[in-house]
This record gives sequence, C-alpha cells and structure tokens, in this order.
Amino acid sequence: MALVAAGFSLFLVSCATTERAVFAPPEIDGAHYVGNRTCADCHTNIARVFPASPHARLYRAEMKMAGDSGCESCHGPGSKHVQAGGGRGKFILNPLQDPGLCFRCHLDIHAEFNLPQHHPVVENRISCTQCHDPHGADIFKPAGGLAMARQNQTCAQCHREQTRPVVFEHEAMREGCTVCHNVHGSINAKMLIQRDANLCLKCHAQIQSSTGSLVFIGKIAHQGFLRHGTCWSAGCHTAVHGSNMSQQLRY
Ligand code: HEC
Ligand code: HEC
Ligand code: HEC
Ligand code: HEC
Ligand code: HEC
Ligand code: HEC
Ligand code: HEC
Repeated sequence: MALVAAGFSLFLVSCATTERAVFAPPEIDGAHYVGNRTCADCHTNIARVFPASPHARLYRAEMKMAGDSGCESCHGPGSKHVQAGGGRGKFILNPLQDPGLCFRCHLDIHAEFNLPQHHPVVENRISCTQCHDPHGADIFKPAGGLAMARQNQTCAQCHREQTRPVVFEHEAMREGCTVCHNVHGSINAKMLIQRDANLCLKCHAQIQSSTGSLVFIGKIAHQGFLRHGTCWSAGCHTAVHGSNMSQQLRY
C-alpha cells in the first residue's frame, strides 16, 4: 500500500479568486478521468445506489470541471486504477483515510473542524463516514428521513451515556443532538452551540413578573439562580440529556 501510495500526488490547493471559490481537482500522477460508467463495471453495488446521492445530483446542476460530480470527484482520476485491474491502494484515493478530499470542496466544514473543540476527524481518530454515507441517497444521513431519531442513533454508536433510555426524558432530545451541539466543531466546551443560559432560553421562555423583580422559567422564579452560572452547572439541571431520578433534570 505505502509503495503505491508514494506514487500519488494529491494537491489540496484551493484558492478564492473572485467571490467564487475555485477548487483544484484531486490528482493522481499520470491518470486521467474516465467517468462513472467505467467504475460501474466493477463496483456495481456502489454505482447502483450512487445516482440518488446529493453529490451525483450535482452532476447535472453545475459541472465546472472534469470529475466534478462523479465518483472521481472524491476518488481522483481513475484511469490507472482501471488499467491496473483495480484493487486496494492501487492508484485511487480514499477519503476514509483523508478527509482533505472532502475539505477540498467543503471549506466551511474544514474551518469548523479547526475550531478548538471538534470531533477528532483531522486527527484521523474518526471519519466523516461515521456520520455521513458518501454513496447512498442519504449522505446527510443524520438529518434526512426520520430526522432526529436517526441522528441520535448515529451518535449513540459512540455516546451511549447520553442516548440511553431514561425515566425523565428531556424533550429537547427529540429535536436531535444538534439543537445544542455543533458536532463538526465549536469554540465552546463540549461543542455547545452557546456557552450560557441562552442555549436553554431559546426554548424555555423567561417571563418577568409585572413588578420586574421576579423572573420565571417554567413555574419557578429563577432570578436568584441565573447569577450562579449556566443552567446545567452549579448543581442545577446537570442531567440535561435526561434523568432517572429527577423530573427537573437535577441529576
Ligand atoms: C476492473 C475492475 C475495476 C474498475 C473498472 C474499477 N475498480 Fe475500483 N477496485 C477494484 C477492485 C477489485 C478493488 C479492491 C476491492 C476490494 O478489495 O474489496 C477496488 C478498490 C477500489 C477502491 C478502494 C481503494 C482503497 O485503497 O481502499 C476505490 C475507492 C475504488 N476502487 C474506486 C474506483 C473508482 C472511482 C473507479 C472508476 C474510476 C473504479 N474503482 C474502477 C476494481 C475496479
Ligand atoms: C462524496 C465523495 C464520494 C463520492 C462522490 C464517491 N465516493 Fe466512494 N468512497 C467515499 C468514501 C468517504 C469512502 C470510504 C467509505 C468507507 O469505507 O466507510 C469511499 C469508499 C469507496 C470504495 C471502497 C469501499 C470499501 O469497501 O472499502 C469504493 C470501491 C468506492 N468508494 C467507489 C465509488 C464509486 C464507484 C463511486 C461512484 C459511483 C464513488 N465511490 C463515489 C467517498 C465518495
Ligand atoms: C467536488 C466537490 C465535493 C467533494 C469532493 C465533496 N463534496 Fe459534499 N457537497 C458538495 C456540494 C457542491 C454540495 C451541495 C452544496 C452544499 O450543501 O454545500 C455537497 C453536499 C454535501 C452534504 C450535504 C448534503 C445535503 O443534502 O445537504 C454533505 C453531508 C457532504 N456534502 C459531505 C461530503 C463528504 C463527507 C465528502 C467527502 C467524503 C464530500 N462531501 C466531498 C461538493 C463536494
Ligand atoms: C460526529 C458526526 C459527524 C462527523 C464526524 C461529520 N459530520 Fe458533517 N454533519 C453532521 C451532522 C449531525 C450534520 C447536520 C448538522 C445540522 O443539522 O445542523 C452535518 C452536516 C454536514 C454538512 C451539511 C452542511 C451543514 O453544515 O449543515 C456537510 C457539508 C457536512 N456535514 C460535511 C462533513 C464532512 C466533509 C465531514 C468530514 C470532514 C463531516 N461532515 C463529518 C455530523 C457529522
Ligand atoms: C465514531 C464515534 C463517534 C460518533 C458517531 C460521534 N462521536 Fe461524539 N465524540 C467522539 C470522540 C472520539 C470524541 C472526543 C472524545 C475525546 O476527545 O476524548 C467525541 C466528543 C464529543 C463531544 C464532546 C465531549 C467532550 O467531553 O468534550 C460531544 C458533545 C459529542 N461528541 C457529541 C456527538 C454527537 C451529537 C454526535 C452525533 C451527531 C456524535 N458525537 C457522534 C466519537 C463519536
Ligand atoms: C438541551 C441541550 C442538549 C441536547 C439536546 C444534547 N446535549 Fe449533549 N450536552 C449539553 C450540555 C449543556 C452539555 C455540557 C454538560 C456539562 O458541561 O456538564 C453536554 C455535554 C455532552 C457530552 C460531553 C459529556 C458530558 O456529559 O459532559 C456529550 C458526549 C454529549 N453532550 C452528547 C450528546 C448527544 C449524543 C446528544 C443527542 C443524543 C446530546 N448531547 C444532546 C446539552 C445538550
Ligand atoms: C429544543 C428546545 C429545548 C432546548 C434547547 C432545551 N429544552 Fe428543556 N425542555 C424542552 C421541552 C419541550 C420540555 C418539556 C416541556 C416543558 O417542561 O417545558 C423541556 C423540559 C425541561 C425541563 C423539565 C421541566 C419540568 O419541570 O418538567 C428542564 C429542567 C429543562 N428542560 C432544562 C433545560 C436546560 C437546562 C436546557 C439547556 C441546557 C434546556 N432545557 C434546553 C425543550 C428544550
């Protein structure tokens, strides 16, 4: 594998010229683009599901360069792989080992993964494909279809603690983990979308009493509590993902 890989040169260059970003296509020394149909000869199963994927749909929409939307947009030009009769590590790129192949087009996502709190994708500890299916109809697996049940299941593979069934469920969980977490990356601890009470107040209204001296959240006056820190710290609602003991999600 390593020997053959040394023959590859992959340029992760992209440059913003005008307002539109221009992306350099992936390169494999001496190889040129052959088109999806050639890949289908051997990779029948993938080729069969691929036309329904969002990346295949780009094909017709906006074709700006060779390989822009087919198999080779992610795997690089395939002629040498085909000539070699295919095979693992044979003149073909695989984004499973290199998320840079996705970042080439998804510059904004790259920026998110560079934020201080992020899933360890750039460290190669997990890959995009543990949350996204690159070939099927549902690349946006976590948010497509039966949206949130599915998304939480994706997360459950690795985060059992937050996804196990509980006696006192927090209904926010039904909207999916991403109402509170930006899973690509965030500047906040635990990849939270917001680091303060606003994370919770977007759903739980704060209501002032007519005199203005009391601030209700739910049926409880909270004006004394909010000063102590976030809603989930300071021994308050620490069980934000749900609790077996406390309806108020205390612990
Ligand atoms: C002549 C048959 C053939 C053709 C045509 C072919 N492949 Fe392959 N390819 C293979 C075989 C065999 C493997 C090894 C699969 C395995 O071991 O399960 C493979 C492996 C791969 C891998 C995995 C490589 C790795 O190192 O993990 C990718 C990606 C791939 N092919 C993409 C493509 C693309 C894209 C095309 C079209 C440009 C294509 N293939 C055309 C036969 C072919
Ligand atoms: C959006 C980028 C993208 C596109 C477009 C794409 N692939 Fe892939 N492909 C991937 C990723 C990511 C993996 C690694 C998935 C994994 O193994 O979990 C992969 C893996 C593969 C493999 C290796 C599978 C294995 O068993 O290890 C083959 C073969 C392959 N792709 C062929 C194709 C063919 C053929 C097409 C076009 C019909 C295609 N790919 C289009 C991203 C893409
Ligand atoms: C050749 C450019 C290109 C490459 C390479 C590429 N993408 Fe995309 N991808 C796009 C474009 C364009 C869209 C549609 C516009 C958008 O949402 O950004 C898209 C959309 C997506 C979406 C959202 C789909 C939806 O329905 O909203 C996901 C998720 C995604 N890509 C993941 C990946 C992953 C993972 C890889 C690498 C395995 C990858 N992409 C590689 C260009 C690319
Ligand atoms: C830990 C799981 C996870 C990993 C790993 C992951 N994603 Fe995502 N991705 C998501 C979720 C969840 C969403 C939906 C975000 C939302 O609904 O706000 C998403 C959305 C997207 C979108 C749609 C645009 C957007 O921001 O909503 C793109 C494009 C995308 N991801 C690309 C990638 C690429 C490229 C990688 C790898 C470099 C990757 N993702 C790795 C979970 C993940
Ligand atoms: C393939 C396994 C995997 C999947 C799937 C996954 N994660 Fe993670 N998650 C990790 C790893 C690994 C870390 C980093 C833990 C560390 O650095 O110790 C992490 C960290 C986190 C953290 C920060 C934890 C901390 O203590 O800072 C949050 C929040 C999180 N993930 C949420 C999610 C959500 C939401 C999803 C689903 C969209 C998801 N994860 C899917 C593996 C995964
Ligand atoms: C209502 C908002 C909210 C939702 C929805 C949510 N989380 Fe969290 N999550 C938090 C907060 C707040 C923390 C920080 C807790 C702390 O610092 O003590 C956190 C922390 C985490 C951590 C770090 C470990 C820990 O307990 O400190 C992981 C992992 C995590 N969440 C995963 C998930 C997963 C997976 C889902 C979806 C199944 C999810 N979260 C849904 C608010 C939420
Ligand atoms: C996406 C919307 C949403 C977000 C964000 C959200 N919640 Fe909730 N929460 C709900 C819903 C819906 C209920 C159930 C109805 C109710 O009691 O208001 C609930 C119930 C609760 C309860 C139980 C109330 C009771 O007495 O039964 C507590 C405590 C709670 N949430 C705390 C939090 C905290 C702390 C945060 C921030 C980390 C938060 N919530 C973020 C939607 C949300």
